[in-house]
Amino acid sequence: NWTTTNVVEEQVALIREQVGAKRAICGLSGGVDSAVAAALVQKAIGSQLTCVYVDHGLMRKGETEQVEKDFVAATGVKLKVVDAEKRFLDALAGVFDPEQKRKIIGREFIRVFEQAQAELVAEAGAAGEDVAFLVQGTLYPDVVESGGGTGTANIKSHHNVGGLPDDIEFQLVEPLRQLFKDEVRMVGQELGLPEEIVQRQPFPGPGLGIRIVGEVTKERLDLLREADAIAREELTAAGLDRDIWQCPVVLLADVRSVGVQGDGRTYGHPIVLRPVSSEDAMTADWSRLPYETLAKISTRITNEVADVNRVVLDVTSKPPGTIEWE
Ligand code: XMP
Repeated sequence: NWTTTNVVEEQVALIREQVGAKRAICGLSGGVDSAVAAALVQKAIGSQLTCVYVDHGLMRKGETEQVEKDFVAATGVKLKVVDAEKRFLDALAGVFDPEQKRKIIGREFIRVFEQAQAELVAEAGAAGEDVAFLVQGTLYPDVVESGGGTGTANIKSHHNVGGLPDDIEFQLVEPLRQLFKDEVRMVGQELGLPEEIVQRQPFPGPGLGIRIVGEVTKERLDLLREADAIAREELTAAGLDRDIWQCPVVLLADVRSVGVQGDGRTYGHPIVLRPVSSEDAMTADWSRLPYETLAKISTRITNEVADVNRVVLDVTSKPPGTIEWE
């Protein structure tokens, strides 16, 4: 029978059996899944684990600092932070296609983990094959939507499943592969992770890279980061964080429309708000947010974010829409 205690005990035993005396690295994203996977593996193999946080430049405002501070404080894990912004942005230059973006991001993640592995080997004076494992917080829905790792996405290639390169040398440790998000949260609670981490809303590994419809550039990311920060701030202020599953904020980078501000004509970009409610992200409904909150977000974004002159609301359920736009 399913209890979080059983899941933890069973997974700890399986991880110990799989990893043995070797070392593992775990990609941390700041989200719930990788945090719970890391905590679980740490419980199993302790200091044989090193966490790697890849700052790919596609994170939201303040996120990197939060991981560096909160997660380490909560768990005491060994953390390596890699600044990989240039590498990811160079790789994404000129790319428009959503699946291509996902595959590039998945590949670059692995390349950064390989580099971290090499550094770890050098530091520890260990043999290369001693750092053989990569821990990922892959969930059951990620596997299903990516086509079960068959190489062909049913819906989209999640960065940590269908987006992985073929020449990967790591052996994967994926202790959450059979779980849904609400179960992962319960396991995180059982492991003693703080509420701020366990109840965090989902945020995709490919980050803002799949929330810019069009080419990803630094300028566009900065703009989207501002708009996203405003939306998150107002949703939190209105006490709505626990009512919604997540609220992607999307930049339609190649769309422009005419507006007016002060006495002048503007020709700017639309920002899309995509608040959804869901149980497991497999299906979702659009959240009926209070008009006052929507009005505040809209006014602030159009006033405070340069080059944005329109805020639109996505009122599509999943299906037919997916939660993310790409
Ligand atoms: P979709 O857009 O498929 O999203 O309806 C379902 C849930 O998964 C998240 N998501 C991802 N998470 N890597 C992740 O870690 C990914 O590549 C990825 N793609 C989507 C999305 O935010 C939503 O919660």
